[in-house]
Amino acid sequence: MATRTQRPTTVVIIGASGDLTRRKLIPALFHLGSKGRLPPGLRIIGYSRTDFSEDGFREYMREGARELGDLDAGQEEWDRFAGSIHYLRGDASSPPDVERLRDYLEEMDRGGPGSNRLFNLAIAPHLYEGVVRTLGGAGLAAGNGGWSRVIIEKPFGRDLRSAVELNRVVGGVFSEDQVYRIDHYLGKETVQNLMALRFANTIFEPLWNRNYVDNVQITVAEEVAVGDRGGYYDQSGVVRDMVQNHLLQLLAMVAMEPPSARHPESLRDKKVEVLRSIRPLAVRGAPGDAVRGQYRGYTGEKGVPADSPTATYAALRLFVDNWRWQGVPFYLRTGKALATKVSEVDIQFKAPPHVTFSLGAPEDLPSNILAVCIQPDEGAHLMVEAKVPDQGMQMRTVDLEFHYDSAFGGMSIPEAYERLLQDALEGDSRLFIRSDHIEEAWRLVDPLLRAWEDPNGTPMHVYEPGSWGPAAADHLLAQDGRRWVQACGCHS
Ligand code: BG6
Repeated sequence: MATRTQRPTTVVIIGASGDLTRRKLIPALFHLGSKGRLPPGLRIIGYSRTDFSEDGFREYMREGARELGDLDAGQEEWDRFAGSIHYLRGDASSPPDVERLRDYLEEMDRGGPGSNRLFNLAIAPHLYEGVVRTLGGAGLAAGNGGWSRVIIEKPFGRDLRSAVELNRVVGGVFSEDQVYRIDHYLGKETVQNLMALRFANTIFEPLWNRNYVDNVQITVAEEVAVGDRGGYYDQSGVVRDMVQNHLLQLLAMVAMEPPSARHPESLRDKKVEVLRSIRPLAVRGAPGDAVRGQYRGYTGEKGVPADSPTATYAALRLFVDNWRWQGVPFYLRTGKALATKVSEVDIQFKAPPHVTFSLGAPEDLPSNILAVCIQPDEGAHLMVEAKVPDQGMQMRTVDLEFHYDSAFGGMSIPEAYERLLQDALEGDSRLFIRSDHIEEAWRLVDPLLRAWEDPNGTPMHVYEPGSWGPAAADHLLAQDGRRWVQACGCHS
């Protein structure tokens, strides 16, 4: 009998004609193949309702790779890779069609051991439940001797209720260890580096708590506006699009306790514990914990109603009620059409308790900042005070910096999907979201969604495109005697 590792592996991309497949999934698989990281003999089946011939589909994928610049280095390599791509037309919500998909897969396996199967749902989220049911109905969750896994993209649900329901449907077909829910932020090297920074160094962890940290700031700013995604975005808004997933993931990575074992569940347990410890947000009244904004001109975007109340910016203040973080505010902000694209985590330490030399006015007492730069200039900055030479005891903040491009000799940083697809193929679920995590994250933001859907709820602050968001977000910190910091993006 074939062992599981000797079996061939098949990736089935459901919704293969969409942008995600061309721009992310196929390029990631191509790069993994170039690095020799795919299971030998991997087959990729594109599946969608569009009428492609196999060659036509390969050509469509090749154009996508060319647009991304992926073919510059290796047309021959691409041709070899493209030989593993197949195409089948069908509607994944239709039981007879999915039975044909099952027969097609069985036909491919004929004469050898049944293959391992990874189903990647690259489809609109409202189709997830139906497609999961048809996969189950056709017996595809049970596998054909090998393993069977499913990748589900964000957004997983629209609120707590729908996420619980989706978990119930998915859980009725696949067991939890077969389900790989993606938040692509976890596939980013720099997000994983948060763990390396914290747990592979001894100098940070002793300071990583309420005794030394004054506040934590997480900024995910985007320069782009909603562009041609207005129709989708307006149904989502900033909380569903960014906060419930990417920002809370970053927060969990910063605030979690050290996982005690290499087992994936150990890390996932620690992250869920953080979410469970977050104090419910004060979403109404002033001073509350949340500020919302909409960039000027949003309501004129394609697909956006002229009276849309959708927020494109959010700033939040959160508290993690546990021994480590009691009283330390976590400030989060994210938005579209902001001054620049930057994602960073800033750990602002407490000011020195006493200094014997002049550092200016008491409110100017410097505090060290550790800035972890997620993107685009990946790296970290540690802001420390130094004596200016030949100026008595005058101090200035200097930057001990590390940039991926110089530190790692120009090694390119892989796309998040490379790491995530490789992990899903290898059965490593550490960087995927467990069902309870999804629900905890929705539980936290649900009151905010409800308050912001209420026309008489909290005020909407209009901000100028190209700015840093509404002034109210600055007041959120100012009322605590703090201000936003931004240490990434600077080269000293
Ligand atoms: C996606 C959101 O999940 O993340 C987009 O739907 C957003 O609106 C994107 O632009 C940001 O991802 P990244 O990797 O560019 O920071």
